[in-house]
Amino acid sequence: MSSERKQDHIENYFKSQFKANTLFENIYIEHFALTDLNFNDIDTNTTFLGKKLSFPLLINAMTGGAEVSYDINENLARLCKEFNIALEVGSQKIALKDENLKDTFTIIQEIFDKDNTLIANISALSCVDEAKKCIEMINADAIALHLNPAQELIQIEGDRDFSNILQNIENIVKTLKIPVIVKETGCGISKKVCKELLNVGVKYIDVGGFGGTNFIEIENLRREDLDFTNMYGWGIPTAKSIIDCRSLSKDFTLIASGGIKTSEDILKSLVLGSDMVAIAGEVLKYLVYGGYKMAQDYLKSLIYQTKVLMMLVGCKNIEQLKNIDYKIFGKLKNILD
Ligand SMILES: Cc1cc2nc3c(=O)[nH]c(=O)nc-3n(C[C@H](O)[C@H](O)[C@H](O)COP(=O)(O)O)c2cc1C
Repeated sequence: MSSERKQDHIENYFKSQFKANTLFENIYIEHFALTDLNFNDIDTNTTFLGKKLSFPLLINAMTGGAEVSYDINENLARLCKEFNIALEVGSQKIALKDENLKDTFTIIQEIFDKDNTLIANISALSCVDEAKKCIEMINADAIALHLNPAQELIQIEGDRDFSNILQNIENIVKTLKIPVIVKETGCGISKKVCKELLNVGVKYIDVGGFGGTNFIEIENLRREDLDFTNMYGWGIPTAKSIIDCRSLSKDFTLIASGGIKTSEDILKSLVLGSDMVAIAGEVLKYLVYGGYKMAQDYLKSLIYQTKVLMMLVGCKNIEQLKNIDYKIFGKLKNILD
């Protein structure tokens, strides 16, 4: 991971145009006109990684190491502290290779206090020692291991050898003392993959589904020798990934992500059985295009609107959302496992 590549990813994220579908639009949740709750009693608090959050939201892994990363991470940390939500840093490999880049990650610690929730990040191909160094670098509450084969294979300098990746994950999970999240980055986790991860002891899965940030496009914009335009539609839609993974077991923490933008996406994710919801690209968009105030307003509206929707389905707290009825139709119904 080079600093220039990280910069390219951020720039190409803003150039990417492919419109993808999470298939949340194929979930129908009924309005409850006889709501008898008091808006002031709507409670969005939750516990994640042993800490209390005011809202079940994580700003997902994005940055660190590039020129712009210091400011972005500083602002993301301020936002997460202000709203008492969790933050995951971008891949720290870059700072393991070059000590001078560490401060683009450690700036977060200058803003966070012990009550804030911070997650480290590195490739699932990394060794235990690298994972430990990432955790220590930012004194993280957990580490996320990313699975991003589509991105790596399309990236000119990307990984090509994924041998023994599951054994590697198992080794990290069994060696580390803190929780390990396994995440995709936009192509989704299938039921089969989820099962294999659960079998080796993974207890936290971020589905990173299709429908939002598209790394096939982002990497394709970085190369001229081959063209991957016709692969932009590859991936498991986020709604399918959530339903399929959750159908296996209730006994793990499921993080919904990939194309989450609106309060309705959040409501649907939680109704489908997710414990947490994560957003990456959409927050970055508000922050980079609009500045801190715009990102702040976006999160403020998102949280307020989610509370309104909770009221409109008659749920007082996050846990109750898991018992709400919903209907699945259209394409999503046809492709569910
Ligand atoms: C600019 C950018 C950089 C990213 N860098 C990383 C990374 O270093 N590590 C990682 O696990 N995911 C990374 N991601 C993926 C996100 O964490 C997330 O899984 C993905 O973008 C899907 O969520 P979204 O549709 O809300 O953006 C990055 C995303 C963006 C937009």
